[in-house]
Amino acid sequence: MTHQAKKRVLSGMQPSGLMHLGNYLGALQNWKQLQAEHECYFFVADWHALSTNYADTSRIREYVRELLIDWLAAGIDPNRSVVFIQSRVPEHAILHLLFSMMIPVSWLERNPTYKEKQEEIKEKDLGTYGFLGYPVLQAADILLYKPHFVPVGKDQLPHLELTREMARRFNDLYKQPVFPEPKEHLTKFPKVPGTDGRKMSKSYGNTINLSDSEPVVRQKLKTMVTDPARVRRMDPGNPDICPVFDFHKMFSPLPIIEQINRECRTAEIGCIDCKKLVADRVVDMLAPMWEARAALVKNPSQIEEIVQEGSKKAGTVAKTTLHEATEAMKI
Ligand code: TRP
Repeated sequence: MTHQAKKRVLSGMQPSGLMHLGNYLGALQNWKQLQAEHECYFFVADWHALSTNYADTSRIREYVRELLIDWLAAGIDPNRSVVFIQSRVPEHAILHLLFSMMIPVSWLERNPTYKEKQEEIKEKDLGTYGFLGYPVLQAADILLYKPHFVPVGKDQLPHLELTREMARRFNDLYKQPVFPEPKEHLTKFPKVPGTDGRKMSKSYGNTINLSDSEPVVRQKLKTMVTDPARVRRMDPGNPDICPVFDFHKMFSPLPIIEQINRECRTAEIGCIDCKKLVADRVVDMLAPMWEARAALVKNPSQIEEIVQEGSKKAGTVAKTTLHEATEAMKI
């Protein structure tokens, strides 16, 4: 495929904490695969993090850096993909402003994530203009690059639909097809349980982070919940309801999965040995990332060079699109 024929992909993540196994399997692995055949733009959405963290910005920079390290360590290749930071490409803010002039407030108020998040996060005042406008900024992020696909999780579908509606509205208003409508690229990913058996999530404190050290990963897996009915070593267990078995299904080779499935039910294997087997697999998967991470941490100027270059490339594309938009608007 020539460079020109490659389809363009764009996606972003908020710097809202350290990446964990669930994020890796849910998003990053998909990004990594996409970069093999597509022209990819991946960015850290630091302005979006302000929508919920404007009152305490103390950790945003640290999380931006950690996120970049996680991406690069996991195999996002800056020679193939454009890696950048939203706040270094001011065109995102300009297009957001232009869109804000034409987007009906009612579209934003009926956005399901707006109400859900406000319900969920009671400890912060999210009655702000920026929080309501979150998807307007996201539409600007996306449409500046005219991507064919936007890899996202299901939770982002309302935002993507709003992005398409925004594109149509702009094109209709100014009678020019400036913005093509992007499609979602949904990730098929396993539901990753956390160490307490609930969905792995930063807010539950049950994560295994990509940046955790080997002893920490092993310790977390050692204390992970199992079939609660299996109290003693000689009690038979039920893998069907055991989150550790879910881990085996994601990380272990088939013979091991079959062995556990048999030997757990008859109490031939105990939880400690079963967990050790899966810990070895998780460690194998994370070990190359730890190595890459250690090299990156020692060399912060390398990260800075990558984002400088990425932000410059992104800015060139963004400027061109913004120019088309302002020409269509005669501004
Ligand atoms: N809203 C996305 C999330 O929380 C992050 C995001 C911001 C994004 N801008 C984007 C994702 C543009 C894809 C495309 O996960």
